[in-house]
Amino acid sequence: MRRIAFLNGRFLKWEDALIHAEDRANNFGDGIYEVVVAYHGKPFYAKEHIDRLFYSASQIELHIPYSPDEIMDIIDRAIREANAEDENSMIYFQISRGFAPRDHAFPENAEPTFYLTVKPFSPMPMEERRRGVKTVTYPDIRWARCDIKSLNLLPNVMAREYARRRGALESLFVKDGVKITEASSSNFFAFVDGKLWTHPLSNEILAGITRSIVLKLAEKLGIEVVERPILLSMLEDIEEAFITSTTKEIIPVSQIDDMKIPVGERTLSLIEEYQRLKEAP
Ligand code: PDD
Repeated sequence: MRRIAFLNGRFLKWEDALIHAEDRANNFGDGIYEVVVAYHGKPFYAKEHIDRLFYSASQIELHIPYSPDEIMDIIDRAIREANAEDENSMIYFQISRGFAPRDHAFPENAEPTFYLTVKPFSPMPMEERRRGVKTVTYPDIRWARCDIKSLNLLPNVMAREYARRRGALESLFVKDGVKITEASSSNFFAFVDGKLWTHPLSNEILAGITRSIVLKLAEKLGIEVVERPILLSMLEDIEEAFITSTTKEIIPVSQIDDMKIPVGERTLSLIEEYQRLKEAP
């Protein structure tokens, strides 16, 4: 496959996708984004991602110059342009409020900047997944609208780097010193007392598409779900835990700070169901 980009209505070579220095994404992070994966050239739950893009846009009063169907079409065309019809790929797209001389208030005449890239994607191999990953806790220093998939990712960047330096894959955000909201770029789940806990949808987390898929799979497997925050005081009672995202899919968590957690059968059966869904969505 080859790396390509789509920028403001045109397909370009990836290295030619240049944006003005005074784009509001650059100055203010004034924009939103999505990450979709395609398995063997077929976008996975793209409609849900596009719906979330429109939700994020509505929350920041940003006009998207395409309809949801047009964005779906751009994604399909981009996969073909990238020669990725038979491969797994990751599609990133973002939209900003455009370029205009720097002023915090919305510009009057700026056109939104929309760009999309396609690159190769390899899910974590199953052997690695089975071993689970280390996570660390990190204070949730983010803003009060984590439901918007905003380009402002500085706290997430800080949290992820904190994890990386400690040999961990993810940081789990701890809000007000008491509860886990989600991770720096994934949602967090834990089995406690035989039930599957995850933070409820609210302004404090991103409504992960993978999260919603996992909730459906849990129902299918007869697993009882509790959409309530996992408190730090519950950590010792965690039987199994995992993180979810579009690119991570479902990854078992085998450690939180110094505490070890076994990779268990219930998490593995959710992973198995997810694999089936990837083959036949
Ligand atoms: N991250 N929570 C946060 C803060 C995220 O950034 C993400 C996704 C998720 C999981 O959402 P979904 O299941 O829809 O991918 C939860 C993407 C993949 C990223 O920033 O690269």
